[in-house]
Amino acid sequence: MCNFKGIFSSFLILFFIHTNFSNAEEIKIPKYDWTFKGITGTFDRSALQRGYQVYTEVCASCHSMNLLSYRNLGEKGGPEFSVEQVKAIAANFEVTDGPNSDGEMFTRPGRPSDRFVSPYPNIEAATAANGGAYPPDMSVLVKARKGGADYIYAVLMGYTEPPADFQLEDGVYYNKYMDGNKIKMSNPLADDLVSYADGTNATQAQMAKDVTTFLTWAAEPHLETRHKLGFKVVIFLIILSTLVYFSMRKLWSRIDPKD
Ligand code: HEC
Repeated sequence: MCNFKGIFSSFLILFFIHTNFSNAEEIKIPKYDWTFKGITGTFDRSALQRGYQVYTEVCASCHSMNLLSYRNLGEKGGPEFSVEQVKAIAANFEVTDGPNSDGEMFTRPGRPSDRFVSPYPNIEAATAANGGAYPPDMSVLVKARKGGADYIYAVLMGYTEPPADFQLEDGVYYNKYMDGNKIKMSNPLADDLVSYADGTNATQAQMAKDVTTFLTWAAEPHLETRHKLGFKVVIFLIILSTLVYFSMRKLWSRIDPKD
């Protein structure tokens, strides 16, 4: 009997520890209704293309995306730029290649098979250029952060005036959704910062949504195939279960319960 009491009070203690310590500072990230959510979710092709434009025109001056090649931009399930567009995009970048027969490195225009060109030669250079904070590589950032796409979008939309008594050092900015409400990246977006190729109105929210969609695809390029397969498996299981159910009924109906 007294064991019960012991177990009950241990649970009570654990519950108090949990509520008092683990949840105390947790920041709630708002959920967003993404087109790629859920079992039938797909990426909006034009959002992916606009998102690439925002990444390359705004974020790419600080954040690398080392795991992507320009040809990925033309693959099925992604932004699906045409072969010609991908070639033109790659050719815009200067890529270091070599060594040549004289043992020297040289630069040439990018090719679709090249990896995305990084803004900095290494992490140390990136950190030094950004006031001691490393702008993380964005190839799989959406998967690496709790909250995923919702978190990235929230950070991009989370710049507000700090409360009156809030202390901010130089080069540190207030953001509602960062741990401790501090971030060493100034607000990278503002209305009409880019001029969208497809004529969409470039509000801050629109750009945040598009670039987040693009970053989600980059981190999970096979999301659509996975969703399609999952959907087929569910349909298959429904049909299979129905067949099994009816054949079992038929089989068992031959047995007379009185036997
Ligand atoms: C001027 C350089 C610069 C630009 C431009 C920039 N960032 Fe950053 N970003 C940083 C730095 C530096 C950090 C690290 C901040 C920190 O650790 O406090 C950062 C951090 C972030 C984070 C938080 C990452 C984490 O670790 O949780 C996100 C999300 C982000 N950037 C998204 C973007 C997006 C999207 C764009 C383009 C629209 C962009 N950034 C443009 C410098 C930049």
